[in-house]
Amino acid sequence: MKLTDDEQAMLDGKEGLAKQKAMELLVKYGEALGAERLVDTNNICGGVVGATPFVRKFEAKAGSFDAVFSEFQLDSREVVEVPKVKAFTCSLIQGMDPAHWQMQGVEPGAYELNMRHEWFCTRIGIQLMNTCTPYLLGNVPVKGEHCAWMESSAVVYCNSVFGARTNTEGHESTGAAMLTGKIPYWGYHLAENRLGTHLVDVEFDAKSVMDWGLLGYYVGEIVQERIPVLNGVRQVPNLSRLKHCGAAAASSGGVEMYHIVGITPEAHSMEEAFGKKKPVATLKFGKAERKEAYDNLNSSAKDTNVDLVVLGCPHYSIEQLWEACKLIEGNRVHSNTNLWIFTPRAIKDIADRNGYTEIITNAGATLMTDTCPALGQVSPKGVKVAVTDSAKQAHYLPAIMGLQVWFGSQEECIQAAITGRWRGELK
Ligand code: F3S
Repeated sequence: MKLTDDEQAMLDGKEGLAKQKAMELLVKYGEALGAERLVDTNNICGGVVGATPFVRKFEAKAGSFDAVFSEFQLDSREVVEVPKVKAFTCSLIQGMDPAHWQMQGVEPGAYELNMRHEWFCTRIGIQLMNTCTPYLLGNVPVKGEHCAWMESSAVVYCNSVFGARTNTEGHESTGAAMLTGKIPYWGYHLAENRLGTHLVDVEFDAKSVMDWGLLGYYVGEIVQERIPVLNGVRQVPNLSRLKHCGAAAASSGGVEMYHIVGITPEAHSMEEAFGKKKPVATLKFGKAERKEAYDNLNSSAKDTNVDLVVLGCPHYSIEQLWEACKLIEGNRVHSNTNLWIFTPRAIKDIADRNGYTEIITNAGATLMTDTCPALGQVSPKGVKVAVTDSAKQAHYLPAIMGLQVWFGSQEECIQAAITGRWRGELK
């Protein structure tokens, strides 16, 4: 791999041991991927490995997060003192909400570790966003900007909606990138790897967030990790719809980028979306395909008595909270169920000031931050049946938490929370 002078200097240890180890890791990683060089990045969404039971045991023995970072993110047995990050770095979702950890069934030891983890992150200069939707909090990369993002729903949004460039990175590569401001130049960083592969004729007029989730889920399952080009979309989808579409496609498949002809920034036309390539296959999304995706997402559930309703995957925007509050206000969550809504901490601050948190709390529901059931594996005790408006949670919760899960619209989910019964259907 060809290195620039500043990269070589870091590799030679001229900026200290931690950056040297980080460069060694990036060079090994880049060479394994066939990258010819590194590229500058000043936009990392990753963080420090957090409050898993394994890390907890390790930290207890090793005695510091410097040791955790060295072992798990710099691949170094030798403990190095981690310096302040060089690149702008936002933390991703964590294992618990520090304000509701007991309700989430988290043990005190894990909570204490989480707080030490937060302290360490701020010590090295990581922005404590603790969300999979950093773009809701002002991290909005511009077209062509090289990023190193980690979480799948964030990655697909970054590539597709912003036209910024990232691969799905891991803890190790984002850890090294935040210290050096470098990431291997391969995959989605290269223009030629961003062209569409599959043409999708969108025949069903997707309007709602739920429809966009179904569209993403159906297409992701077929194209897997390739790049679908959606053609025929009549109404411009807003942030919530694209957020749900990408998250769903990244769950049923491994979609890291999609185009929507006439809408997303690298698909002003079909020619731009595909370049000189021809689609390897053409598929359609009509009524039958929508129903197929809906049936698949609802295949795990039988019992219509609902224990838990989960909203906010990916984390809810303030617009979605506003919509939810209009449906919740003046109602009461059924005594046999729980309604948990997830949003970034900074959005909750706005919700507090707007009176939304009060509306949610008065209804007996809870507005949570920093985590989600699928990633944090948090839930109230004894939950068997959950309901969600997120195709991503509906995809993962049966496998990760062993739950029966119903998928539907935000309105159906909130009705389920109020009545304690699932009555959703595809309309
Ligand atoms: Fe975000 Fe958790 Fe969903 S990380 S995309 S809220 S599974």
